[in-house]
Amino acid sequence: MQHFVSVDELDEDKVLALIKRAQYFKQGGKPEKDLSEVYCVNMFFEDSTRTHTSFEMAERKLGLNVLSFDPKQSSVNKGETLYDTLLTMDALGVDLAVIRHSENQYYQKLIDLAPTQTLSIGIVNGGDGSGQHPSQCLLDMLTIYEQFGKFKGLKVAIVGDITNSRVAKSNMELLNKLGAKVFFSGPKYWYDPSFEQYGTYKTLDELVAEVDVLMLLRVQHERHAGDQNEANFSKERYHQEFGLTKERYERLKSDAIVMHPGPINRDVEFASELVEAPKSRFKAQMQNGVFMRMAMLEAVINERNLGGKINEDIN
Ligand code: CP
Repeated sequence: MQHFVSVDELDEDKVLALIKRAQYFKQGGKPEKDLSEVYCVNMFFEDSTRTHTSFEMAERKLGLNVLSFDPKQSSVNKGETLYDTLLTMDALGVDLAVIRHSENQYYQKLIDLAPTQTLSIGIVNGGDGSGQHPSQCLLDMLTIYEQFGKFKGLKVAIVGDITNSRVAKSNMELLNKLGAKVFFSGPKYWYDPSFEQYGTYKTLDELVAEVDVLMLLRVQHERHAGDQNEANFSKERYHQEFGLTKERYERLKSDAIVMHPGPINRDVEFASELVEAPKSRFKAQMQNGVFMRMAMLEAVINERNLGGKINEDIN
């Protein structure tokens, strides 16, 4: 694909090919092409630790030429639009931009405009508002696949602040396509009936002993401006009603796994003492992120015919 902005275009074959490629990189495999003349910029207009650093690790491991961009010190502060900022990167010779932005589907108008304008830079979505988070979703798929070797028939619960979560949106869509049985839980005020096209709502206590994957979501306080539920929010109450407590952990199936995209609100979604417990895949998800992002970047690079001659030393 020319851009990697959502999970909409993915099907089972494409997901399995990306997983296979990520596993190849995880086992120490190298890219087949020389990518030192491929230029990539990371443009994070929203805060990030994992995604930003993980993409940069992935880019460096692939051998890309990596440029940094700090929106806080850029001409965005003089009113320059995202389109003109990208046009500038394109003009400077940058091939790919990894972008995180607060606006849902910020990428669509850039892609739609491109054919009538001169913009040709490739876009990889590092998260758009409460829209999509394709790289988090795919690293989650790799983590689930490592545990179960399949998706079909797996029971996956997505729990928490679902309305505001781009991770939840990408995961419910893709898990559904892959044949997993999706359940939802968490506060009804951060749940929307439109999610029912992808799964079924149940209480956490109904789900905890039944599911193969318990996917906890961060409470996204920064997206709750004007939300009365934020004013009434209690960490302790949330943890007791919707969080993974020690008691709930003990009720999980023997081979069940617990996931969280991070950052974690400790003792809110996830009891702090369980974050690195045997069934937790929190650290594995972060590790897998580097290799899945290598696979995603490589897919865009190949589609765009970027990169130099075959590296004879490694083939
Ligand atoms: N999971 C995730 O997107 O984390 P960051 O916000 O730290 O990138």
